[in-house]
Amino acid sequence: MIKKNVRLTGHERTFGEDEIIVSKTDPKGIITYANQTFIHVAGYTEEELLGAPHNIIRHPDMPHCVFKLLWDNISAGNEVFAFVVNLCKNGDHYWVLAHVTPSFDAAGKITGYHSSRRVPDRSAVEQIIPIYASLKKIEDSNPDWRAGMHDAEGELGRLLESVGMSYDEFAFSLVQCV
Ligand SMILES: Cc1cc2nc3c(=O)[nH]c(=O)nc-3n(C[C@H](O)[C@H](O)[C@H](O)COP(=O)(O)O)c2cc1C
Repeated sequence: MIKKNVRLTGHERTFGEDEIIVSKTDPKGIITYANQTFIHVAGYTEEELLGAPHNIIRHPDMPHCVFKLLWDNISAGNEVFAFVVNLCKNGDHYWVLAHVTPSFDAAGKITGYHSSRRVPDRSAVEQIIPIYASLKKIEDSNPDWRAGMHDAEGELGRLLESVGMSYDEFAFSLVQCV
């Protein structure tokens, strides 16, 4: 896949506060729609994105447990808000606050997912970076990635319990504290 040879540049891209990065996927997370802002910021062509799994823009700093939380929620029919750092085609990166929702057919079956992403407050990103780094460290310290993810999931759960919030509530508390 295209992203395998991507070398991280360490350069952060950003996008306008009035812009929204939008993508849609099928139930397995294969991209079925990408708006122009997504295409522009990620640096891929529409042809490269359509039909690709959404992990084409996965950044190695992202903890597995955050994606597990995302998939656990949306596959159960719930919406989720999440801070995500994404990888551009050239190795740059960009932070988003994503709102991911399931779409249903008339029978209530999930037909796909939709994600709208806005540029997050800088202070929220600064607070989430060390949290994700500690979750990633827990994951990387276990040679069995599933066990590592389970440990990191436990740590995230304890963190959220200590502040008495769901992940969504925690995400919004970061945004609102600026
Ligand atoms: C609608 C939707 C949007 C997604 N957006 C992103 C995204 O912006 N970045 C990302 O890394 N993963 C995104 N994912 C999650 C990916 O499908 C995948 O779970 C994640 O990249 C982890 O990949 P991995 O399991 O190969 O490690 C999205 C999934 C869905 C359903």
